Amino acid sequence: MDDNTIDSLRQALEHSPGNIPLKHLIAETLLALNRLDEAESEYKSLLKTANDVKSKVGLAKVYFKKASYSACNVILEEVIENGTHDVEVFTLYAKGLLKENSPSKAMDAYKKALTIDPKYFDEELDNQLRSRGTQDIQYAEEEEDDNRFLQKPNVNFSDVGGMDAVKKEIELKIIKPLLHPELYKAYGKKIGGGILLYGPPGCGKTFIAKATAGQVDAKFISVSLNDILDMWIGNSEKNLHEIFELARNNTPCVLFIDEIDALGASRSDMKQSAGRHLINQFLQELDGIDHTNEGVLVIGATNTPWSLDPAFRRPGRFDRIVFVPPPDASTRESILRLKLNNKPTGTIDLQNIAKKAEHYSGADIDAIIDIAIEQKLEASFIDGIPKPLETQDLINALKKHKPSTQEWFSTAKNFAMFANDSGLYDDILNYLRIKK
Ligand SMILES: Nc1ncnc2c1ncn2[C@@H]1O[C@H](COP(=O)(O)OP(=O)(O)OP(=O)(O)O)[C@@H](O)[C@H]1O
Ligand SMILES: [Mg+2]
Repeated sequence: MDDNTIDSLRQALEHSPGNIPLKHLIAETLLALNRLDEAESEYKSLLKTANDVKSKVGLAKVYFKKASYSACNVILEEVIENGTHDVEVFTLYAKGLLKENSPSKAMDAYKKALTIDPKYFDEELDNQLRSRGTQDIQYAEEEEDDNRFLQKPNVNFSDVGGMDAVKKEIELKIIKPLLHPELYKAYGKKIGGGILLYGPPGCGKTFIAKATAGQVDAKFISVSLNDILDMWIGNSEKNLHEIFELARNNTPCVLFIDEIDALGASRSDMKQSAGRHLINQFLQELDGIDHTNEGVLVIGATNTPWSLDPAFRRPGRFDRIVFVPPPDASTRESILRLKLNNKPTGTIDLQNIAKKAEHYSGADIDAIIDIAIEQKLEASFIDGIPKPLETQDLINALKKHKPSTQEWFSTAKNFAMFANDSGLYDDILNYLRIKK
């Protein structure tokens, strides 16, 4: 494209003055040729006739090139407010915001672009946000309140219905070593390593980890690996180290790390080497090489153990991997009892509901009760008198909320049948009653 192109385009336009696509082409070409004033007036005239998003974004680009960043941002804000899934819009907006010295807003905008298209990558933005992000974090750290991660749970194993196999594993691997370290030492058995819980969503992984802390009167730190991994800031190593340090400084402590698979899964998204580096860092913290992890009980959780790097499963790391199945009928009954405890109820046939709620997770049961209550509320509005929940209300609610565990099993089954080399997923097969 050169200046001659513009002339011939303009001639063509004389023959069909209402040709919007042609006008767009002219404006874009002017923009590409950096004839910014002309591009600006073309876009403005387009806005008068067509008033379309494309012209708005075009004008924003002109302003960006003219270094009128606030004008550029104002236009893009309007476009975004009206709803757009255009990655380019968010990228330009992020760049405009950086120019206007709003790195955290810029980060949000770039994250939006990445949510729309996870494979998207803008080198310039990535570089700038990484270096700026680090400065910001150091600043934020001074006023950081570590205590927001520390909890003192008031639930213990007696609040967890069923799950006997899981309790037993935790008992052996975590609780006994904590209570009798000298016995373990006498047999030369190494203390340490963690348990990895896996299974369908909503079936009590987080809950039992918390109850473990309550059981041994330990502090509880719960973090999601996704929170630690901030690909855009490049500060994940430090975050990771600080969480482990927090646990080490507050022993005895159960360190619960959710979404462990985030490390494996995000590896292909991150630049390969950065991902590897993080995994190594994580394993080092877990191994307690530089700092002792005595009194730190690590429990990890994931819905997708198969996407985990095998290095995680070496001895001394997550060397126990424990399946947390959907609650069985009696567990469902105790979950129901627990959850209905302080609600207005009539006589409720818990056993019957539990039986009907096959395949429902703990979280599903939460949802059922919620639905039943909503309906009761509606009925109570009529005469203003609160009505107790009855068996039928919960049975009706079951029809409105389908169990969420089945979908997980349809994926898990494939891994258990075809990628189960060391019998890692035998528990899934047993649960599904599939013979090897
Ligand atoms: N055995 C149980 N006894 C009592 N409550 C339970 C039990 N299992 C699950 N729940 C309840 O179910 C809800 C969901 O459990 P939780 O959040 O621990 O599931 P999760 O396995 O961590 O799910 P996700 O994989 O989505 O993180 C919680 O409110 C918890 O109280
Ligand atoms: Mg959880």
